[in-house]
Amino acid sequence: MTSTPDATPAGRGELLILNGPNLNLLGTREPAIYGSDTLDDVARLAGAAARDAGFSSECIQSNHEGDLVDAIHAARGTAVGIILNAGAYTHTSVAIRDAISAVELPTVEVHISNVHKREEFRHHSYLSPVCDAVIVGAGVHGYVLAVSYLDQALA
Ligand code: DQA
Repeated sequence: MTSTPDATPAGRGELLILNGPNLNLLGTREPAIYGSDTLDDVARLAGAAARDAGFSSECIQSNHEGDLVDAIHAARGTAVGIILNAGAYTHTSVAIRDAISAVELPTVEVHISNVHKREEFRHHSYLSPVCDAVIVGAGVHGYVLAVSYLDQALA
């Protein structure tokens, strides 16, 4: 599990930017689908948008389902909102869905690619029904759009 905190003090609290399996390979992983930006670029981009809106941010990535569940639980004490790209667990994980429901934090589901233009198994998300907003197919800019959503939702 990797964590990139942006420690900028911010009056509006912290946004957790949580990324699931294989997203550590962004930049080199299927660039025709996911583009050339790395996860560090995502942390910088979303972190800057969060800072501009008065939030601090922490970007966490793990390839392990239980780590993602733990990070969502921990967010209850540390974050005011969650931006979640659960990667392939989106399409399989009741455990991550239950964690989102449990913590009752505003949560935005993000997918870099347009999952609806891809294989049938990517069309179903266990997470969408318990998230407040869903952003798909906007590339890594989707994380910035998610910050913008939380900016107005938490106003
Ligand atoms: C993804 C889409 C998922 O279907 C896939 O398993 C990923 C990335 C996206 O950001 O487009 O790992 O969540």
